[in-house]
Amino acid sequence: MCDLPPAGHAGFPTTRLRRLRYNPAIRRLVASTRLAPAQLILPLFVRPGENLVRPIASMPGHAQLSPDRLADEISQAAELGLGGVILFGIPDKKDRAGSDALSASGIIPQAIRVAKRASHDVPIITDLCFCEYTDHGQCGVPSDATGRTDVDNDATLELLAQQAVVHARAGADVIAPSGMMDGMVGAIRAALDHAGFSHVPILSYAAKYASNFYGPFREAAESAPQFGNRRGYQMDPAAAAEQALREVELDLAEGADMVMVKPALPYLDILRRVRERFPGVPLAAYQVSGEYAMVKAAAERGWLDEQAIALETLTAIRRAGAEIILTYWAKDAARWLA
Ligand code: PBG
Repeated sequence: MCDLPPAGHAGFPTTRLRRLRYNPAIRRLVASTRLAPAQLILPLFVRPGENLVRPIASMPGHAQLSPDRLADEISQAAELGLGGVILFGIPDKKDRAGSDALSASGIIPQAIRVAKRASHDVPIITDLCFCEYTDHGQCGVPSDATGRTDVDNDATLELLAQQAVVHARAGADVIAPSGMMDGMVGAIRAALDHAGFSHVPILSYAAKYASNFYGPFREAAESAPQFGNRRGYQMDPAAAAEQALREVELDLAEGADMVMVKPALPYLDILRRVRERFPGVPLAAYQVSGEYAMVKAAAERGWLDEQAIALETLTAIRRAGAEIILTYWAKDAARWLA
């Protein structure tokens, strides 16, 4: 007979968890959530022009850039070993149909070509949506059919399919549809395959919530809805969490290669559930503009330590299950981690 407690179940004083926190080297040894630049994706805003850097007031450190200025960013992203960049286009002229989004000479195709000349080491992801291109700021074709102003889902699919092919032809490495239309992934997959781009992956904004944390982005992309809101297609924060699993499941069935949860920090529960239900599916989280702006504002007042908070939030997002993080801190974080 042996009086020792079963292995692993010993209590104090045999077990002292503080032993694993004894010094930085031990803490590093047992750390299991690692952050690497290759997991971070940098969002960039592009608009037509030359030598243009138009700072975004609510997102210090970020600016709308002309394509020539984008090249510097891509080179830096390559040097820092970032996992990729995601491009958002702001056309000179927005119209009801969002026609710049469908043009081979539109702002995003221009930007992709510049980016590809700057480096081939940084995957170029393009956000696929209409809100940045339309004068009404909605993510698709407006419709009054139901008596309430909304977006016509199926009419929008056809346009998203065309937009995806425009991006792929210009050289986009990954297409990331963000409009939360039903059937969008299937429509885009079919169009890409038909046009000879069966190798181009889709990163779907699968569980995207109707969040107030997108406020600064809408300033950056000049894309605030001019009527109504996006609650008719983006998810309700109060919806059952399982609804996010249904969104992910459908997108995977339609051919999504990677899926995203957005925003990140207020939705870590959703991230964790998606991670557990769909192991093996690359999972991204978007730490959105409002998450960044809050910390920036508090740091400016000396209320929070920006670097420490940014790294802690990124670690939390990783720990919840995201292996890819879209973050406005991508470049800073890569430097801090070096
Ligand atoms: C839509 C899109 C939005 C964001 C990314 N893609 C805005 C929205 O849905 O209103 C927000 C990202 C952020 O807040 O950083 N094209």
